[in-house]
Amino acid sequence: MQRILVTGGAGFIGCNFVHFIMEHTPLHVTVLDKLTYAGNLQSLSEVPSARFDFVKGDICDGPLVEALVSRADAVVHFAAESHNDNSLAEPRPFVDTNLVGTFTLIEAARKSGTRFHHVSTDEVYGDLELDDPRRFTEESVYRPTSPYSATKAGSDMLVRAWVRSFGLQATISNCSNNYGRFQHVEKFIPRQITNILDGARPRLYGSGSNVRDWIHVEDHSSAVLTILERGDIGETYLIGADGERSNREVVEMLLALTGHSPDAYDLVTDRPGHDLRYAIDSSKIRAELGWAPQYSDFEAGLRSTVEWYRGNEHWWRPQKKATESKYAGQGH
Ligand code: NAD
Ligand code: DAU
Repeated sequence: MQRILVTGGAGFIGCNFVHFIMEHTPLHVTVLDKLTYAGNLQSLSEVPSARFDFVKGDICDGPLVEALVSRADAVVHFAAESHNDNSLAEPRPFVDTNLVGTFTLIEAARKSGTRFHHVSTDEVYGDLELDDPRRFTEESVYRPTSPYSATKAGSDMLVRAWVRSFGLQATISNCSNNYGRFQHVEKFIPRQITNILDGARPRLYGSGSNVRDWIHVEDHSSAVLTILERGDIGETYLIGADGERSNREVVEMLLALTGHSPDAYDLVTDRPGHDLRYAIDSSKIRAELGWAPQYSDFEAGLRSTVEWYRGNEHWWRPQKKATESKYAGQGH
């Protein structure tokens, strides 16, 4: 394997993956990204140009996708509409990109026989009760609840069907909530950090008791590379780092890290259909592929994320005002 195509490489996880690949492998990377509101070329500005090129384009564009996929030894597919609140306000782009875009890519990979890794989410499994001792496993039933998670579930099913019916050389991963640098300010942790840096109060949906299972984005990158190198074709791997926290706990930690009172937040209108809790059992990838997360100290990871946003206002400032006016319109 020498050349990989990374879709969505100008987004949060995709750009972190490209940086990770540059640091840990000799691979050449081509990024295909449409540069929607969520894509930012500045996130790739420090990638060494000799091993990297960027193509602005849509994963739904069949001829473009076929040309790029046929030149690659492997495709790592991150491109998606990724934000639940947006999917509730306007679902159409989620159907186009997450379903039709994935279909377009796997058709191309099938024709050229290119290795394909599909990046997906734990949200395909729906949610768990707060006191449920179980966590999601590769055997959990698909029960998506939002337009976003329904389209990601559909894209997983397309990949599985292409493996079985056409012999697509594919693997799938379903990961929990990522945090780290280069995450759009619409997402929970960067929104609260940038609110605090702006002198505004963090905003918790509902009662703040919903639980997410946090993983550092570098650990997601190392897991995806592990699957690309050693995963078994046709298999699904769940990726998680045992990072369950309620949203209120996360906000209290951010307030403490920035020297504020732990109750200096506001409770705001809840998200319709808001999933209560996600929790990943990642035993399979650990036991079968020998992967383990490196970022076990969540508070230390949050501290360095706060410092990154403090030091990179030029990166997030242009997105902040439009994001907050969108939320104001939704009562959040
Ligand atoms: P993001 O919204 O930050 O980035 C998505 C990227 O895809 C952007 O650069 C955007 O321009 C690009 N894109 C969107 N539509 C496109 C199209 N039609 N053609 C080409 N490019 C397009 O998303 P993210 O948080 O980095 O998520 C990346 C992937 O990881 C997604 O598939 C998501 O479902 C999955 N995932 C995310 C998380 C998380 O916590 N953020 C967790 C598990 C899985
Ligand atoms: O679980 C993986 C998923 O995690 C990914 O598939 C998605 O792409 C990613 O966006 C994320 O989905 P969530 O809906 O969990 O993430 P979000 O950052 O939108 O919200 C995290 C939690 O915080 C959720 O319970 C809603 C809550 N929230 C969010 C915002 C933006 C708040 O309480 N206040 C906020 O201002």
